[in-house]
Amino acid sequence: MADTPARTILVTSALPYANGSLHLGHLLEQVQTDIWVRFQKSRGHDCVYVCADDAHGTAIMLTAEKRGITPEEQIDSIRREHEHDSAGFMIGFDNYYTTHSAENRYWSEEIYRRLKANGHIASHTVTQAFDPEKQLFLAERFIKGTCPRCKVPDQYGDNCEACGATYSPTDLIDPVSAISGATPIQKDSIHFFFTLPALADMLKKWIDSGTLQPQVANKLREWTDAGLQEWDISRDAPYFGFEIPDEPGKYFYVWLDAPIGYIASFENYCNRSGRDFDRYWQQDADTELYHFIGKDIINFHGLFWPAMLHSAGLRTPSAIYAHGFLTVNGTKMSKSRGTFIKAGTYLQHLDAEYLRYYFAAKLSAAVDDIDLNLEDFVQRVNADVVGKIVNIASRCAGFLRKGFDNRTAATCAEPAMLADFMAAGDAIALLFEQREYSKAVRSIVALADRANQYIDEHKPWVLAREPGREKDVHAICSVGINLFRVLLTYLKPVLPAMADKAEAFLNCSLDWTALNGPLLDHQLATFKPLLTRIDPAQIEAMLAASAEDTRAEQT
Ligand code: MSP
Ligand code: ZN
Repeated sequence: MADTPARTILVTSALPYANGSLHLGHLLEQVQTDIWVRFQKSRGHDCVYVCADDAHGTAIMLTAEKRGITPEEQIDSIRREHEHDSAGFMIGFDNYYTTHSAENRYWSEEIYRRLKANGHIASHTVTQAFDPEKQLFLAERFIKGTCPRCKVPDQYGDNCEACGATYSPTDLIDPVSAISGATPIQKDSIHFFFTLPALADMLKKWIDSGTLQPQVANKLREWTDAGLQEWDISRDAPYFGFEIPDEPGKYFYVWLDAPIGYIASFENYCNRSGRDFDRYWQQDADTELYHFIGKDIINFHGLFWPAMLHSAGLRTPSAIYAHGFLTVNGTKMSKSRGTFIKAGTYLQHLDAEYLRYYFAAKLSAAVDDIDLNLEDFVQRVNADVVGKIVNIASRCAGFLRKGFDNRTAATCAEPAMLADFMAAGDAIALLFEQREYSKAVRSIVALADRANQYIDEHKPWVLAREPGREKDVHAICSVGINLFRVLLTYLKPVLPAMADKAEAFLNCSLDWTALNGPLLDHQLATFKPLLTRIDPAQIEAMLAASAEDTRAEQT
């Protein structure tokens, strides 16, 4: 059944930095988002999914310089790689763009002007570390020195990796610029600020509105209770970004124009597809807007972004969906352990759908971290997807081909069970809607267990050897195929490629909104294997290649 009336939804994933390759952590987010988008589409809703590369900032400028290319060349090559990797994981962006675009420049300037007109932009003199050799201001992570507490050398500007101390860069002993090695000096400069405290009332309402995850709302309350600070939105030249209107030499801080990149990517899509842009962004929009993000960027999306939108007279998000971080084998992805796995490296060794399934089997609506335990990964995918779900089709298809020309029976022998499977769809849909994918997957696998149990009990392989039992074999295997069809319809948002192959085999489209009766006297195509088991050797090869990636980067 379709939910009525159809909803109009715009969805985003966070914009990956154009400074490096995608890794499996990025893919956790994109897979979570993509499943939700595919689910909405499968329910008949009008759902658009946009993303982009986050192309500005000092780090990108320095990377390009180190590689002897322009920042534009750097961001173009990374964008191609990102799009290629996401496509490999079947992430169905309707538009993938870049923040270094005319649309984004327009909206960054426009929103800035609106904030300024509302009196929400202030300017103050800021004293900051400056690299006299490179002639550039140094963010904390570009200053290194000896920890003032434990005296371990080579620590970054704001915290010590050895003892965990946090401090300000001016506390470091013998500080040096991580870029040139020069000793930083203190220098004054004018900065522009977004006056967040002026939007405190609006933010309080937003945080208490009930649309945010409880963990997110709590975090935001903690920050607002500690006192909102003005937000520094400018950086001095040299900087790769957009110059601030009428302020030569001053650039928008990357985090100012990054979320505006959602608007810009969507506008670019509207221009290509003829959609009504204003309908999505005006203050009283009847459309829904959701941002999927990681837990590390909750403050930007939960405070600055809605406040900016509000001040600029634009709509605020319907909700923000934050997820936790991906760990591998229980710890942070680590280059030295070879568990820092790039998206491209994974794809050279393993099928994308293994990981899509595994992430789905672990994701919930909470902000908790998700562990990719590689042994559990192999075991789970092989047992559930290959051993249970694909197995239903593969054990029935052969009999239907040999004895019945790939046609299903003209009547359904188990109408009650099939009705149960279809009735389960509403509860499963609700779980997808609520991003409780692990529960949705568990329900689907429980149905697969029932289907396999039915086949086990009726033993078509035994009946097939008994003369006169052809009709029974036909009936049992046709039930199996019909149950399989329902399960693959529910799994289609998670396993789109497998669903494609299943559609070819079943000779019908797996359409959630069209799931009513069984396939009776229906012509199937000859069954082809849908997914093979993971061989642990593939995992070993991927880890070895990841270790090799790290070695290559360090030389
Ligand atoms: N460019 C910013 C986002 C701007 S959005 C207007 C950024 N980029 S990022 O490349 O560092 O991260 C992109 C997304 O991937 C973020 O949502 C981030 O939380 C997520 N992840 C990065 N590493 C991750 C894991 N290890 N695990 C899960 N998600 C992770 O932040
Ligand atoms: Zn220390």
